[in-house]
Amino acid sequence: MNVELGKACDIDNWMCLVNQVKDSFPGLETREALEEHRRTVLEFMGRDAAVCAKIDGRIVGTLLFSRDDHMLCFLAVDEVCRRQHIAENMVSYMLTLMEPGKDIAVTTYREGAPEGVAARAFYKRLGFVEGRLTEEFGSPVQEFVLRR
Ligand SMILES: CC(C)(COP(=O)(O)OP(=O)(O)OC[C@H]1O[C@@H](n2cnc3c(N)ncnc32)[C@H](O)[C@@H]1OP(=O)(O)O)[C@@H](O)C(=O)NCCC(=O)NCCS
Repeated sequence: MNVELGKACDIDNWMCLVNQVKDSFPGLETREALEEHRRTVLEFMGRDAAVCAKIDGRIVGTLLFSRDDHMLCFLAVDEVCRRQHIAENMVSYMLTLMEPGKDIAVTTYREGAPEGVAARAFYKRLGFVEGRLTEEFGSPVQEFVLRR
């Protein structure tokens, strides 16, 4: 498995994975929303802020982050490749690309949402702590913060 920056030439490969996991993300329900997301991914790729994990050239993990906002913006791993530390490797790689010493925030499902069990366990395992309860795309979410 390779973890590397995603480039514009990876976009179709990247979107194959997003299509597979889209039901886990509020805001990716419609074709228009997916097209908008594709444009967003290309913008992140242009800023060297899109990380992917590849196995034999196929993208099995995707991560978007913001250096300016100190945020992890999107994270997903192929269903059949989970629990192989792929997400953990992508987050470690992301941390090497971000300003040291700054807290990093992410929003994810609130406690009690079945879709959020894996993500919440994952962030806690990596040392993120629970933060503010907020909303995103009209859905209730919770911020998690990695203190550095
Ligand atoms: C959350 C997600 C990205 C984790 O990816 P992953 O590659 O399977 O995670 P890792 O293998 O790096 O997990 C590292 C550790 O986190 C914890 N963890 C991860 N998934 C877990 C789960 N389903 N249940 C309990 N703990 C879990 C474990 O401690 C794991 O280490 P272990 O397998 O040695 O016990 C993946 O489940 C996913 O894509 N989910 C759907 C999309 C999503 O929820 N994205 C985040 C929304 S903000």
